[in-house]
Parts: sequence; structure tokens; C-alpha cells
Amino acid sequence: MNASAGTPATHDGFDVARVRAEFPLLARTVHDGKPLVYLDNANTAQKPRCVIEAVDRFYRERNANVARAVHALSEEATDLYEGARTALARFINAPSAQELVLTSGTTMATNLVAYSYLLPRLEPGDSVLTTRMEHHANIVPWQLVCERRGARLKAAALEANGELRVDEFIALLTPEVKLACVAHVSNVLGTVNPVREIAAACRKRGIPLLVDGSQAVPHMPVDVRALGCDFYAFTGHKMCGPTGTGGLWARRELLADMPPFFGGGEMIREVRIEGSTFADPPARFEAGTPNIAGFVGLAAAVAFLESLDMQRIAAREQVLLDYATARLQEVPGLRILGSAAHKAAVISFLVEGAHAHDLATLLDLEGVAVRSGHHCAHPLMQFYGVPATCRASFSFYNTEAEADVLVAALRKARKLLV
Ligand code: ALA
Repeated sequence: MNASAGTPATHDGFDVARVRAEFPLLARTVHDGKPLVYLDNANTAQKPRCVIEAVDRFYRERNANVARAVHALSEEATDLYEGARTALARFINAPSAQELVLTSGTTMATNLVAYSYLLPRLEPGDSVLTTRMEHHANIVPWQLVCERRGARLKAAALEANGELRVDEFIALLTPEVKLACVAHVSNVLGTVNPVREIAAACRKRGIPLLVDGSQAVPHMPVDVRALGCDFYAFTGHKMCGPTGTGGLWARRELLADMPPFFGGGEMIREVRIEGSTFADPPARFEAGTPNIAGFVGLAAAVAFLESLDMQRIAAREQVLLDYATARLQEVPGLRILGSAAHKAAVISFLVEGAHAHDLATLLDLEGVAVRSGHHCAHPLMQFYGVPATCRASFSFYNTEAEADVLVAALRKARKLLV
């Protein structure tokens, strides 16, 4: 029996049972018939039928390479791929689809900015500003290019509750900072950062701001124009799309001034042995055959999310967050890391006397999938002085009943470990 059974179909105007029925994988069991309780959505989200079918249909009926041939199939594939760009640009309210580079995900997007935007501009003594709550994809690319140029990476500190010290971030926006970077939502703590305020401070000082939107785009309406940032990176597989998809939105004038990062087919204007000239953005940054089927699937995911309404998704996940937080706090010895006033449905926790990996292993035996470890955020673990946490991350398709299963499994695990 699925964990959604026994719960009312409608939660806060959101028909969870009907939504869950769209995700075939949510009906499966693990470990000898335990219903799967999938709470690892910050890691990757499950895929609705429409996404799976869109990818399947593409390979059955439409498969061809894009922008290379004049035959009908190639034109259809190109239309689908460019249609995905248009759908994604609209989804984040980008001014133009031509400002959206399709990438394999956020990591590719931040590396593109690091090597194409930042590296040519960095000089010895310059710096890049980030925060202590970032995923490694919003730290390591900056370090790699800083090392090449004798520049350095600075990081703004956090409050104990996992909120960014915005005043400190702004104070660190000194003239030698060539790029500022911040997560829209922390993948470990769920903290939602005040990106508009940060962007306004950056703009005032003429410092471009990159926002890692990996954990925001799947969970709330995102409007890059309203945010006022300069670069916005996101990943498709966390928003119900296929793996290997994502994007980098950047202001047109920034993209126009960026040299290519990868060289190859489709990013050129003319190639001569003596030298080459390059296509306009975004093609300039999309060398080689892209993940066409993946983006066809991602376009289907966007349509699916839009049909549910991002505002309603955000509201539903807040209800789940509140419920799960209250229930988890009933577990003896359990400590939640991160209690920001503005928080997404990501709950990192520790249980006194139990290692995070042992807890996650015992939860798994009860069918509950959470992530344990450093969550690709070493500096954040160092900030809290812990090697690892357990993290339950919710999606709109999760239920209160599943939070109850998590809590019951934790109580059981605690008896064995503590
Ligand atoms: N996959 C990363 C996580 O689990 C981003 O948080």
C-alpha cells in the first residue's frame, strides 16, 4: 500500500493523490514490500508519466540531430529543442529565450561563467564573493579560476539558524570583487536567501551577481527579472525533468561579451585553419550535439509544473514543511539544522548518539529514502562542526502520511542506535 493511501485526496486545494498517480515510481516498494517514501527530492526529483513519455516518443518518432540538416525530422527535432528553450525562458520569466544557454545542469552553468565570464576579467588581488552555505558547484569553479589568476574566494558567514548574514555579504562587496554568488535556496538547510536585496546591493556597486537556483526553480515561482540578478543557473532533473539538463540565464550584454568555453560543432560562424569566428549566444556556448531528448522531457516537465501552478506548489510544500518539522521535533534527541524564517521544504537533522549514515541506512530499511552525508557542502558542515547530516527533502507529491512514516522509522532507528 502506498503511503498516500489513507490520507484525504485533497490537501489545501492540491489533489495529492491525483498528482502522485502521475509518478509511476512512487508506487514501487523497496526491501521486501516496504512502500517507498521518497524524501530525497533535493538530490533528484521523480519523473511524471508525461516526461517519461515525451522522451520515449522523441526516440520512437522524432529522433534526429538539431540544426544540422534540412530534412523533416531534423527540423522537427530542432523545433522541439528550441521549444524547450522558449518554455524554460518563460518559466523563469527571462526577457528572451536567446539569453538562455541550455547546459547539462547547474554545475556546467557555473563552470561556463567561471571560465568564460570570470577568468578573462580576473587579475591578481581580485576576489569572488560567495557564502558558507553553498553547494560545491558554487564554490569550486570560482576557486579553480581564482587560483589561475592569483585572486581569492571570500565567503560571507551565516547565523546559527542558517540564515545568511546579509549585512556581512554586502560589506564584503568591495571594489576588488569581480563576481558575487549566492544560492537562491540552500540545498542543506532550505534557507531562502533574500536575492532581491542582495542583487540590489550588487547592482549599486557594479558587481554582477550569479544565483544558483537549483533548489528554487522546482519549488517556487522564479522571476529572474524581478530578482534583478545577472546570472541564474538551474538544473532540470530536480524539477521533474531528465538528468543532464539545465540552463544558465544571463543578461544579453554579459553573454554577448563572453568568449566560447567549449569549442566544436554548431558554436561557430566560420572555421578556417588559421582561426575561427563564433556564433551569437546562446549557440556560442552549446558546442556539440546537445541532450535533445532530455530537453524535450524537460519541456514536458515545465508544462506539468505549470499545470500544477508554482504558487500552489510552493504553498503545498510549506504546509508539508510545517507539518514535518513539528513531527520531527517530537523525536527525542533530534536536532534540526536550519530554522530560517524563510525556508523551503528541506530538513537537515541529527539525532544525538547516532551517525547520519547509520540513521539513513536504517530509514532505508523502512522504505524511507533520505540523503545523508555532507550534501556537497563541506564549508557548511564545517560551520556547524559536523561531518554529516541526514536530510529529508520534500516535493509537492509527498504527503503528511509519509512524514509520519519518517518519524516512526526514526523512532525505531533511534532505539537500535542510541
Ligand atoms: N544533488 C545535490 C543534493 O543532494 C545538489 O543536494
